[in-house]
Amino acid sequence: MEINPLVRFYMDNKKYLPGILTIVGISLFSGVLKMLAATFWGRAVDFGLEGLIGDMVFAAVLMAVFILADCVRTAVHYHIIGRITENMFVEVRARAFHKLTHGDPAILENQFRTGDVATRLNSDIDLLSTFSAGHVSNFSRLVFSGLFGLFACIFLSWQLSLAYVVILPVSLGLVALISKPLQAQKKKSLDSGGSAMSIVADMLAGALTVKAFGAQEHFQERFGRMSDHMVEMEVKSAKVSMKMTAVKYIANVAQTMCLFIVGSWLVSQGLLKVGVFISFVTLSNYITDAFAQSDYMIQSIRRTTACAQRYYEVMDIPDELPGLVGMQASPVPCEAQNLTFSYGREGRVLDGLSLRIPAGKKVAVVGASGCGKSTLLKLLCRFYYPESGSLKLFGMESLDWRPDDLRARMAIVTQNSFLFDGTVYENVAYGRPGLTRAQCEKALRDVELWDLVQSFPQGMDQPIGEGGLTLSGGQKQRLCIARAMVKEAPLVLLDEATSALDLQTEREVQKSLDKLLEGRSAVIIAHRLSTVQGADYLYYMEKGRVVEEGTLPSLLALKGRYYEMCRLQGLPTEVEA
Ligand SMILES: Nc1ncnc2c1ncn2[C@@H]1O[C@H](COP(=O)(O)OP(=O)(O)O)[C@@H](O)[C@H]1O
Ligand SMILES: [Mg+2]
Repeated sequence: MEINPLVRFYMDNKKYLPGILTIVGISLFSGVLKMLAATFWGRAVDFGLEGLIGDMVFAAVLMAVFILADCVRTAVHYHIIGRITENMFVEVRARAFHKLTHGDPAILENQFRTGDVATRLNSDIDLLSTFSAGHVSNFSRLVFSGLFGLFACIFLSWQLSLAYVVILPVSLGLVALISKPLQAQKKKSLDSGGSAMSIVADMLAGALTVKAFGAQEHFQERFGRMSDHMVEMEVKSAKVSMKMTAVKYIANVAQTMCLFIVGSWLVSQGLLKVGVFISFVTLSNYITDAFAQSDYMIQSIRRTTACAQRYYEVMDIPDELPGLVGMQASPVPCEAQNLTFSYGREGRVLDGLSLRIPAGKKVAVVGASGCGKSTLLKLLCRFYYPESGSLKLFGMESLDWRPDDLRARMAIVTQNSFLFDGTVYENVAYGRPGLTRAQCEKALRDVELWDLVQSFPQGMDQPIGEGGLTLSGGQKQRLCIARAMVKEAPLVLLDEATSALDLQTEREVQKSLDKLLEGRSAVIIAHRLSTVQGADYLYYMEKGRVVEEGTLPSLLALKGRYYEMCRLQGLPTEVEA
């Protein structure tokens, strides 16, 4: 049986239950206090009318004490609510973040590609923790005040209670009837606001493309229309809110008036005391409140349940397979035998691939776009596992490796170099925690970025990446190479590391890459063949398998597919003697 996600959330966060129960307990206490205060108010009035001044003062003092106690209760309540909300938010978010970093990379890549998840997760967890303390407190207070109000009302006057039982549903029903179409209108205007915001976000993301196509005018106009529409909807929505408030107010007044008519008659007949009548009216308001808010309570529980469900979509991602050992059994970085692999149900992406990367050698994997080169790399990193065949990495099957130990032996540079929001130093040190500044300097010198970094006002501590200084494509790439360098991993993986660069920049970056590859094993993936000219051995892939392999001269001599690709790219095809 599927367990309700909200219930599951509380089962997983048991340590907050005592706090939440305390909140509910205090709400119960508050209900009692409210009931007592209202009752003693009425008593004070009745004592006064009977001329019992001493008793009246006593009852009034008691009432004041109850009201004061309820004030103190509010302070305590807020203190506990604040503590729970904050702690829960921080802890639950940390857990979700841990999952995002430790979850199975295959699922993370395919199902959660957008940053949207992270944003949504944040607001979901926010609502979950606010609900757990703040809303639970409000709701339990409403419910308990209503319940105790109900008991007290029946106890105070059954005749008036009877009248109330007739009046309340009529008034609530009328409010519901009138506000239903209003509510639908409100939802419509809220939705339109959301869609306008998404257009704005879209335009910001594509600002340069919009300019490049000279489409500013078009977008300006669209945006203008959208914001006019938004304003119009907002005005409408405000009008609706006003109407709804008015309807509720009128219904409430009408209900109280009816109670007054019946109550006055009961008083005139000697069936009800004035003070009791006053208590009754006060207490009946608590009951009305509880009913009036029930709709909102249910909605809020639904919304929070949806949040919990989305939270578990992330939390239910399985963790990476842990692997068994972290020992290197052989210096040979990779031996693949008859490897097959597919993403889900689609056809095979790797289809009987065999290849070997000898220790200290540079092996190139080339082939047309889509033939499975990047996929092979993902398998080498153990982001995905082979379906069949054998993939030995440093002498052990990839599945047996503990992921962190395996990845410590690899440094990767891809086409879309990714710089984090941080300083130059932080971006390099990412490759190796505890990197000294001298080591960082050496790496920056090796990739010929040192002069540039020194020209920054804050040198190595200059913020770069998002929100910082912008570097050119080639500079970014060289910084990523420096990051890979300091890792001092025995195997370097290059996936189209220079493909996004122009020829001039490619040459500069290539120099840094050569430095990185010095004395290491490497897999160089490229479809631009100029980058693989220095490789010791080449594999030519087609549809997930190797169709040609050999040294550069032997492949050229073969005059097969590799030869043809070289010719198409205008590279020398003569075998040098
Ligand atoms: N995450 C993924 N989910 C499903 N299919 C994918 C995924 N990544 C790549 N593919 C598919 O696998 C095939 C090989 O892709 P890839 O290894 O990136 O090729 P290459 O790097 O040689 O250009 C392509 O058909 C591509 O559409
Ligand atoms: Mg690729």
